[in-house]
Amino acid sequence: MAKSHHFFNRKLHSLLGLFPVGLYLLVHLVTNYQATRGEAAFNQAVAFLESLPFLIVLEFVLIYLPLLFHAILGIYIAFQAKHNVSSFGYFRNHMFLWQRLTGIITLIFISWHVWETRIQYALGAKELNYQMMVDILSNPAMVVFYTIGILSAVFHFSNGIWSFLVHWGITVGPRSQRAATYLTMGIFVVVSFIGLRAMAAFIQ
Ligand code: HEM
Repeated sequence: MAKSHHFFNRKLHSLLGLFPVGLYLLVHLVTNYQATRGEAAFNQAVAFLESLPFLIVLEFVLIYLPLLFHAILGIYIAFQAKHNVSSFGYFRNHMFLWQRLTGIITLIFISWHVWETRIQYALGAKELNYQMMVDILSNPAMVVFYTIGILSAVFHFSNGIWSFLVHWGITVGPRSQRAATYLTMGIFVVVSFIGLRAMAAFIQ
């Protein structure tokens, strides 16, 4: 019973990492990318999201609760530190370690990011718009922090897809797993570009 419980939780953890948390990461970065088309385009994209009905319910069901479950179980998994050198070799063992490290870094980044944007807005202290991000990123230390946070989240997401494919028995042999390495590295490069290019659009 306890074992099947554990198995279910691990499957749920894995699934939530991709849907909806990973999907949300993509939507979020593509929305931010609108800033490359100027202040008005970004504010319009944000206003559209703000106009969705039952927004707070959607946010909790599709983002905060799945992320919280994934993060809490993720911290537990990260500190269990079961290494896989014999089954996956040197490179994959490194990626396995980085998956855990970027999970922790991403958690620190997201907590800060949600606090200084969404929670400040909910408290009525700030407006959620282009100018808010310009103000945040006028501090060079924040540019460094956001760069690390974005790269960490995108690495965790991309390498997480590799691990997801193994966990769900989609890539079983060494050939398909090698192909998945190339694919997920490509995803890392493209999504990192979108995230960092979006951030650069707020730096004046
Ligand atoms: C942007 C937010 C996040 C996204 C998009 C995300 C996505 C993913 C994905 C897709 C996986 C692969 C699932 C699998 O191995 O089958 C994964 C695994 C993992 N995530 Fe996250 N995650 C996020 C945040 C976090 C946070 C905050 C933590 C907390 C430390 C965390 C810890 C972990 C751990 C430890 C694994 C490895 C699980 C394993 O090897 O069994 N993740 N994540």
